[in-house]
Amino acid sequence: MTFERWVDALEARHLADLTQSEVTRALRALSSCYVERRAGLARGAALDGAGKRAAFALFYAPVHFLVTREIVRALRAGDASLTRIMDLGCGTGAAGVAWALECGRDGDRPSIAGVDRNPWAVAEANWMYAQFRLRGRARIGDIARVHVHASERDGVLLAYAVNELASARRAALLPRVRTVAQRGARVLIVEPIARRMNDWWGEWRAALNAREDEWRFAVTLPPLARELARGAGLDPQELTARSLVVATDSR
Ligand SMILES: C[S@@+](CC[C@H](N)C(=O)[O-])C[C@H]1O[C@@H](n2cnc3c(N)ncnc32)[C@H](O)[C@@H]1O
Repeated sequence: MTFERWVDALEARHLADLTQSEVTRALRALSSCYVERRAGLARGAALDGAGKRAAFALFYAPVHFLVTREIVRALRAGDASLTRIMDLGCGTGAAGVAWALECGRDGDRPSIAGVDRNPWAVAEANWMYAQFRLRGRARIGDIARVHVHASERDGVLLAYAVNELASARRAALLPRVRTVAQRGARVLIVEPIARRMNDWWGEWRAALNAREDEWRFAVTLPPLARELARGAGLDPQELTARSLVVATDSR
């Protein structure tokens, strides 16, 4: 499965019961959840209706795939010695799959252990792993509570997930991420650049002794994602993100 064929499969899957204009309207509502109406995020408001779920799958998931792939390539984090990627807050699986595909060759890629609290997202992530013929399983769980055990051959990914946590959950997660980083796991955190979403960033960078980067990528989005974004008033000219990485060679 390639990125392009995955996108085609997503379109067939998520436009079966909704029109493009319904998904466009839902994308507007979803992006407002992420940017302005953030209070609902901690209780899962982002993915609480069929339209917003389709909008996430058709727009944000491909964007997160492309951004994560670019970051992994730029940081040379596509490590063939990784045997497993724990994708915490895996959503529909996009970022974890993007990282796994950069590690090793067909049949010899890391497995993925996804965790998300949203049952729809978990089902979609399992569908995605199967599409890409990756060994992996996503399950329902709270990333602030799930047991994270990881060694030097594990990757731990938090893509666009930490900013959604209520501050008590975020505070509970940090020491556990630090412990697995100290045990040698390769930890990658990806988030939007907007600072108001990430007042916790400096504390996490310092606690993890992580390398920090800001990214701008000129990436061509799939045609439907572009149309949806334009219709929803988003500007998909370039993709931006920030990352923290803790890797054996940067510690
Ligand atoms: C913006 S999405 C990102 C999904 C995916 N990592 C990606 O990059 O496409 C954030 C995800 O975090 C999940 N999430 C938020 N809080 C969570 C928690 N406490 N435990 C597990 N998952 C959580 C949401 O359900 C959602 O699927």
